[in-house]
Amino acid sequence: MKTLTVALPGREYDILIQRGLLSQAGEYIRAAVPRAVKLAVVTDSNVGPLYSGTVLDSLRSAGFETALFTVPAGEKSKNPSQLAQLWEGFMEFGLTRTDGVVALGGGVVGDLTGFAAATILRGVALVQIPTTLLAQVDSSVGGKVAVDLKAGKNLAGAFYQPRLVLMDPDVLNTLDLPQFIDGMAEVIKYGCIWDAEFFDFLAARPSKPELMADIGHILYTCCDIKRQVVMKDELDTGLRMVLNFGHTLGHAYELAGRYVEWSHGEAVAAGMCAAAKLGVALSVTPPEVPQKIEAALGSLGQVTWISCSMEEYAAAIGLDKKGAGADITLILLDKIGHAVPCKMPRVRLLEQLEALPDR
Ligand code: GLY
Repeated sequence: MKTLTVALPGREYDILIQRGLLSQAGEYIRAAVPRAVKLAVVTDSNVGPLYSGTVLDSLRSAGFETALFTVPAGEKSKNPSQLAQLWEGFMEFGLTRTDGVVALGGGVVGDLTGFAAATILRGVALVQIPTTLLAQVDSSVGGKVAVDLKAGKNLAGAFYQPRLVLMDPDVLNTLDLPQFIDGMAEVIKYGCIWDAEFFDFLAARPSKPELMADIGHILYTCCDIKRQVVMKDELDTGLRMVLNFGHTLGHAYELAGRYVEWSHGEAVAAGMCAAAKLGVALSVTPPEVPQKIEAALGSLGQVTWISCSMEEYAAAIGLDKKGAGADITLILLDKIGHAVPCKMPRVRLLEQLEALPDR
């Protein structure tokens, strides 16, 4: 078992990583939430048929009373009306303030369920059991929970830390290759912003079988980096911004593709490549870095370039929650393994984007 502790004052929790962990979920949740009698388990229509049986059996063996809530798979479920349905369902189940909620699924289930747990009865215990690579290395750790609004993604949300995160690498065996590669964009991001040795380790393993052979180490390293960042800046007022490397431009690509043409991972991958080129143009990033990132992503079959009009860039930059006032803070690399926030006027960023070499 690999264990990481997110040591936040008064809200400390463990991330447990081990193959086969789903079938032991009950005993670990019992230890983390000792007073709970009832657990509401939320999953989606893809993950439920695969894993809810194992998890529910384990929870019942540990003495919990359970109810399963299954939402349709996909980003569309991350909305206020689905959230309200969960609230009503939790109340019909008879959930009390000492009980808990379990999120069993990818990022959509984790974000939606996390926000439901944060708000029902002014907050009940939350356990995250992420089942995609993206959710394991990013959204299940750090406490960002949200639903989407018509005006944009993640606009209604909270910081709400889980009591426990259970990560079973075996669930990635059933994850299809595009979703796995999608998650790898975030994995490679951690190497780019924090750990050059980890970047090289990943670049030397350009296939799912090679990466799965070391998946415990990969999950541990990503979660350890995220944990360190979150412990220093839980509420995203400074350092946590480095996790957004590739995301500001990625947001532009997601918008340009109306959120259907490009997945989050593809948009972030292309966003990291473009940010590396921008960094070179701004004399922040060494010239060899873009090619190294493109090679690491490209050898996995990941996207490294997405075309985007200036209007789309402008819209994305203007609306970006991470921006403040007239200036925008873009995350750049001053070397592989180290990120630096660069504040600049939005118009200057647009000019730089216009000058980027097209491919
Ligand atoms: N996904 C970025 C963060 O958790 O801050």
